Amino acid sequence: MRHLPRLDSLSQLKLPSACSSPSSQDNVNDTESAYQDDGASSSASLSSSILEYRAIHGRKFNSARYDSTYFTPNDDRQSENVDITHHYMTLLLEGKLYLAPIKPDIQKVLDIGTGNGNHPATPSDFADEFPSAEVIGTDLSPIQPQWVPPNLKFELDDATKSWTWPDNSVDFVHIRFLAGGIKDWTALFREAHRVLKPGGWLQSGEFDPRFLSDDGTMDNQAAAKTWNEVFTEGGIRIGSPFNVITDNLQEAAIKEAGFGAVEAGTYKTADKKLAEAGRYVSLALESDMEGYTLFFCTQVMGWSVEEHQVFLMSVRKMIRNYRSTHLYFQARYVWGQKPEA
Ligand SMILES: C[S@@+](CC[C@H](N)C(=O)[O-])C[C@H]1O[C@@H](n2cnc3c(N)ncnc32)[C@H](O)[C@@H]1O
Repeated sequence: MRHLPRLDSLSQLKLPSACSSPSSQDNVNDTESAYQDDGASSSASLSSSILEYRAIHGRKFNSARYDSTYFTPNDDRQSENVDITHHYMTLLLEGKLYLAPIKPDIQKVLDIGTGNGNHPATPSDFADEFPSAEVIGTDLSPIQPQWVPPNLKFELDDATKSWTWPDNSVDFVHIRFLAGGIKDWTALFREAHRVLKPGGWLQSGEFDPRFLSDDGTMDNQAAAKTWNEVFTEGGIRIGSPFNVITDNLQEAAIKEAGFGAVEAGTYKTADKKLAEAGRYVSLALESDMEGYTLFFCTQVMGWSVEEHQVFLMSVRKMIRNYRSTHLYFQARYVWGQKPEA
């Protein structure tokens, strides 16, 4: 098994400071007009510093302006990967955009940690499906498209801080795949509870990036075990552990935040009926396994770039040998309703 060096404290993390470059300046021009200035939110005033990014070994991560550093890059390569992930999650959810029983006449939807905003679950299709609703997607990174339906806008916002929307003003809060970026799930869901109208719904979909197998085929896979340790240990070291599904944190936190009528569903990416989904999982991994692990391996675990590349080669080899390994990941969706007043 790969030796995982220890760090005594988070202050030892080698986080480069924000930097700007000609290409980040391009981003300023490209992205600024995609954002709405409603004067009421923390995204109201966009200075160029927001649009700077943190560069780590040739990949771009969110700006150091925020306390939060999300572990995957915000560049095009990772963005394509998010699109592939979205595709297989749609297959697993049988094409459903959401699982919470929201009403067709909802007025306001928030998608927290919206990502590149390219794909349907979050948030363009919400805007299409609910044309009378105002849809707002938020993220740490300004990576969303410029041309969007008129009822959709994006805001730069750190979801771990107090939310800027008024109490009882939102019908549906959608949050997908923030594990690794959240230290306190109850605090996050309390903000959702506060801004939701009575009767409004919160849906949390999360993904565990650690490999699983039901038939023991993971037992002899050193690469899978090291991968899992990187996420387990890395998540603990940055204070955002990946035990969200294994310890049922979504459900516990949603209930603790005050929601009632909580329901949940767990999905395996290896569902036998959905071999196609499994193929996309491999494709997503192959397309940017560097992006998923670079931050943890080189910045949190202290590995050299070379050690990281050797590790990636072993993971690639393991994935290509998919006939003899039956590895999968788990995703869990939990949704709860704010009690009617
Ligand atoms: C794995 S992507 C998921 C994107 C999208 N929700 C989806 O399901 O495809 C995680 C996104 O959450 C954003 N994010 C992470 N921590 C955040 C925070 N504290 N506040 C706002 N966005 C955050 C990241 O910048 C990234 O775009």
